[in-house]
Amino acid sequence: MKSVQIIVGSMLGGTEYVAEACEEALSALDYTSTLHLTPDLNEIASKNQIWLVCTSTHGAGDYPDNFQQFVDQLTETTQDLTHTHFITIGLGDSNYDTFCHAAKNINKLLISKGCTKIHEPLLLDMSQDIDPEDAASKWITTQFGQLS
Ligand SMILES: Cc1cc2nc3c(=O)[nH]c(=O)nc-3n(C[C@H](O)[C@H](O)[C@H](O)COP(=O)(O)O)c2cc1C
Repeated sequence: MKSVQIIVGSMLGGTEYVAEACEEALSALDYTSTLHLTPDLNEIASKNQIWLVCTSTHGAGDYPDNFQQFVDQLTETTQDLTHTHFITIGLGDSNYDTFCHAAKNINKLLISKGCTKIHEPLLLDMSQDIDPEDAASKWITTQFGQLS
């Protein structure tokens, strides 16, 4: 499994940068990635693929607007996703009671659809003094390095 579909939910662009940093980290590990900035389930390869889902949370625990279509499609699909592995990165702010709810909820939804979780999500708290791109790419290098 050397092919990764990077599925991005972002309102203000921060999660896009994180996804791009992950794409670079994956490339260094010889993975081929496809970035989906307006994810459409019909266009995302699933069989024997790894999905890297990167999403922020907006509103009060809501999915980003560009991500909602994918969530709706996934909720309704009868597609066999049992050969799809996934791993999730969430961006959020722990000042909200709904910290990273979008990442937590998509994680649950993917499991309910038969996808196989590679690892517990990485939840990045943007209220802390962190470099999210650096943190995410290091984590991805560790997680995917263990798969190779
Ligand atoms: C209007 C608004 C609502 C937000 N709501 C939440 C929330 O409910 N839970 C959370 O963890 N973070 C929340 N955040 C924080 C964002 O998830 C965080 O700033 C993230 O880095 C934004 O990523 P993006 O640039 O990819 O959209 C909110 C931010 C804004 C501006």
